Amino acid sequence: MQGDYQLQDYEKAVQNFKWSDTEKEFSWHETGLMNIAHEAIDRHADSYRKNKVALFYKDGTRKEAYTYNDMKRMSNKAANVLTNHSTLERGDRIFIFMPRSPELYFSLLGALKMGAIVGPLFEAFMEGAVYDRLSDSEAKAIVTTPELLDRIPVDKLPHLQTIFLVGESIEEDDKHIDLNKHMKKASAAFQVEWLERESPTVLHYTSGSTGKPKGVLHVQEAMIQQFQTAKWVLDLKDEDVFWCTADPGWVTGTAYGVFGPMLAGATSLIVGGRFSTDNWYEAIQEYGVTVWYSAPTAFRMLMGAGAGPVGQYDLSSLRHILSVGEPLNPEVIRWGMEVFKLRIHDTWWMTETGAQTICNFGSLPIKLGSMGKPVPGIEATIVDNQGNVLPPNRMGNLAIKKGWPAMMRGIWNNEEKYESYFMNDEWYVSGDSAYMDEDGYFFFQGRVDDVIMTSGERVGPFEVESKLLEHPAIMEAGVIGKPDPVRGEIIKAFVALHEGFEPSEELAEEIKQFVKKELAAHSAPKEIEFKEKLPKTRSGKIMRRVLKAWELNLPAGDLSTMED
Ligand code: WT7
Repeated sequence: MQGDYQLQDYEKAVQNFKWSDTEKEFSWHETGLMNIAHEAIDRHADSYRKNKVALFYKDGTRKEAYTYNDMKRMSNKAANVLTNHSTLERGDRIFIFMPRSPELYFSLLGALKMGAIVGPLFEAFMEGAVYDRLSDSEAKAIVTTPELLDRIPVDKLPHLQTIFLVGESIEEDDKHIDLNKHMKKASAAFQVEWLERESPTVLHYTSGSTGKPKGVLHVQEAMIQQFQTAKWVLDLKDEDVFWCTADPGWVTGTAYGVFGPMLAGATSLIVGGRFSTDNWYEAIQEYGVTVWYSAPTAFRMLMGAGAGPVGQYDLSSLRHILSVGEPLNPEVIRWGMEVFKLRIHDTWWMTETGAQTICNFGSLPIKLGSMGKPVPGIEATIVDNQGNVLPPNRMGNLAIKKGWPAMMRGIWNNEEKYESYFMNDEWYVSGDSAYMDEDGYFFFQGRVDDVIMTSGERVGPFEVESKLLEHPAIMEAGVIGKPDPVRGEIIKAFVALHEGFEPSEELAEEIKQFVKKELAAHSAPKEIEFKEKLPKTRSGKIMRRVLKAWELNLPAGDLSTMED
């Protein structure tokens, strides 16, 4: 029922709540030994939820339903196959690189049951992007499909021993194992590995403004916050059908596409295949989706399709809608009110925070333009560049008090980078600028760094620039986010060419395709502008700030460090 939210008294929860209260929900609060896949699946399979649907799956060709008991059996089978056909052990890295399908979820949960660290990869990644992630983490195994196999440069990955394939008529050898074939014969019983709070679970690679993508490491204890926010923010109850539209290649698709709802024992819908307005509305109608978690870009695409399609579907099952990834425009909120008669609730968090941190709770009044208030148990504030807490209504760095349960516990192979996130060993500094008003509501203002958010996906300009420089025609490259009404930002590249190359439409197109083929479609520049020379500091760093100012016709600011 709309308006009947689980977190009724926010202020009281802020004052009284401790994360240790949530631990009592889990079977480990006495032993201290845990496994997130056991808590998400087996705990329910061994309860009154045994025959409750955990996962509805639908794409162009498949339509399936799995109960918690089915999920337990299938993830056990996957765990057995992964164990028996590789040398994977607790703490080893296994990647999952495939389109959404039930097998993706079985292998992800199976790998967690055996104590491996899972690196989920978005299916759109091309060879260069796959290579960077597998080599940095020295992955031992990967689960993929025959279609994606040629994007895995096996010869260049000495640590990669086993490739599990999901598909038809797989040819097996020492290295290539047919996952489905062996799952059919595998035992449905598996002894899960019992782990500790700080044992690693998931490794999500994400972009920053400098350097290659970095591996953000999460641990078992994150489940405390993923569970509690599934209750308070998503407001999941036993009778809900929850649809998180994110792919597990991004943190939203693991934290709330798998863990949050399953830890809470809810029913999830997974829709495979590509986005289309009709597919999406149809999914809501067909499954009677009650709680829906998506992103502003998707809402804007639905909005763009107009009122026509909306009228053809019964969307009245929806009772709670949430958004993440980019600023939620007031325009989108107004559209949601009109079309669904519901307020879209914003949630702010990041790969590094591991779970929701600042949100619009159902029971709190919403202020347009604000992403809401901190989750009880989270202390958020605004600090200046020295780490001093600023008073209300002053813009600064959005920071969170170090030590929340889902906080990342490391950057793979890069302790220095990890340390650089924290100020005075007290505040995690997010890289977003924001202010907080006198009522404690937070307002997002922008990124402090040059990270680009395009269609809700985070793209590091450095990664794209490095790839551009590999193109034979390009001498210098600088990449910025250019504001775009639908995608939030699009990627725009400024390039200077080597001698002997001339700017042309064809060359621009070739360069776009080059990045698309090497990294991923969403990392490829949508616009390319040729320049004689790019603005650089005296030490040779491309000044993206100046490129952005050119693009937006703004003053370029302090140019004292710029070379002539
Ligand atoms: C960056 C993190 C966590 C899932 C999705 C993105 C931006 C995220 C919001 C919001 C304005 C937002 C921030 C943040 N962002 N949510 N509600 N309003 N901006 O995770 O890829 O790690 O990106 O996304 O800039 O720093 P991510």
